Amino acid sequence: MINAGDDPADGWFPESVAVGYDDPGGANSSEVVTPAVDVLEDLADGPVLEFAVGTGRIAAPLAARGVPVSGIELSQAMAARIASKPGGDSIEVTIGDMTTTRVDGQFSLVYLVFNTINNVTTQDGQVDVFRNAAAHLRPGGLFLVEVGVPNLRRLPPGQDAVPFVVTPGYVGFDQYDVVTQEFTSNHVTVPPDGKGRFRRIPFRYVWPAEMDLMARIAGMSLKHRWAGWDRSEFTAESTKHVSVWEKR
Ligand SMILES: C[S@@+](CC[C@H](N)C(=O)[O-])C[C@H]1O[C@@H](n2cnc3c(N)ncnc32)[C@H](O)[C@@H]1O
Repeated sequence: MINAGDDPADGWFPESVAVGYDDPGGANSSEVVTPAVDVLEDLADGPVLEFAVGTGRIAAPLAARGVPVSGIELSQAMAARIASKPGGDSIEVTIGDMTTTRVDGQFSLVYLVFNTINNVTTQDGQVDVFRNAAAHLRPGGLFLVEVGVPNLRRLPPGQDAVPFVVTPGYVGFDQYDVVTQEFTSNHVTVPPDGKGRFRRIPFRYVWPAEMDLMARIAGMSLKHRWAGWDRSEFTAESTKHVSVWEKR
């Protein structure tokens, strides 16, 4: 849904979304941000590039530690917030699509966090993300992805929707197409004035092993797979993973 003042070119993250993206708490809390920045700083061995850099939630604190950070981002509205953050003024941002956009330079690390590989809604497009990451890496460089494990174990036969929040004022559910691996996240918000809002965002889920194959197509191989930023072991019960592939 496009609100007045939103630029359609900003995709699913226009001004009306960007304005609240940095609200305190949740994904913006230091408990979430700091462990991610710790791992990225540790893996960086020279300039790094964030695909879908957003408002610089991760990129700005990483740059503030002295790591040279560049970013690619589709939404001008999201990217406009980066420069005003501590560390953000040093980040060079290119507006474009991470499946195709090239920036100058060779990087030690390309990273794509917060489930954003799922925002690319075709398998071919996701392969292009891996190819584009590899094209920006020097030999031995690393590509890191943070993404959830597809939630299909919660989907009994005959059902295609999985609720993730059900409260009086807000209902959220994902709806899956297990043939195409496309899914939508659906958010129904009903404030006290009764004027409801429905927001549906399209995604494509991707399996860890499928990503290993995408990496191989792009000339990379798996180096690490952790269950989270704490580098804990990835197991059959893990609900997300942080995976790192190395360019051969
Ligand atoms: C969930 S936000 C994550 C932003 C940031 N990486 C973070 O961790 O806060 C997803 C971002 O991906 C951007 N995005 C979605 N598809 C993209 C694409 N194909 N190329 C570049 N950016 C994209 C959106 O505009 C949005 O800013």
